[in-house]
Amino acid sequence: MTHKDDTLKNQVLGIWPEINWIKDDGLRNKVLDCWTYAVETSVLTCEDLNIIPFSLLIKDCKISFMNHKRTAVQLSVDIAKRMKENFGEEIKIDMDMLIAGAILIDVGKLVEYDKVDGQLTTSKAGKLLRHPFSGVALADRFNLPPEVQHIIAYHAKEGDLAKRSVEAIIVHHADFVSFDPFKA
Ligand SMILES: [Fe+2]
Repeated sequence: MTHKDDTLKNQVLGIWPEINWIKDDGLRNKVLDCWTYAVETSVLTCEDLNIIPFSLLIKDCKISFMNHKRTAVQLSVDIAKRMKENFGEEIKIDMDMLIAGAILIDVGKLVEYDKVDGQLTTSKAGKLLRHPFSGVALADRFNLPPEVQHIIAYHAKEGDLAKRSVEAIIVHHADFVSFDPFKA
């Protein structure tokens, strides 16, 4: 690994402290590698992600990409903990898969953006393949398990046709409660 990769990895850990919530070393490293690769190939930097609005579709949106994404991850964990506490043996939730999936649901957005004359737009690839699809492709490149790819694939409206896992149900709702209130 080169020095430059190292710096970028640290930057990704800086914007995503929740990556360290993943207990399994192998899974945690795959999530970090996948995000680092996505930033490396993106027109956006880690700094940009802390500044740009989380949606290009909402007018005057003041919530940043990272604020929105981290809130969805934190909510996913809060919901899962409460469900485990209250439902006990009746429910099985894999916290590592849940966290890894929640962190990666929008990783595909990094390749969905384009910069034209300094202005952010949706790239041609982003128009043809929405981020759940590019996200799965990125995750597969780093051998993330099918449980995690499932959460990415079905987190948005495309997943409404699928039978979501319990982890995917939680992440889907946590993502939408952090989005819908800001919709016009
Ligand atoms: Fe998304």
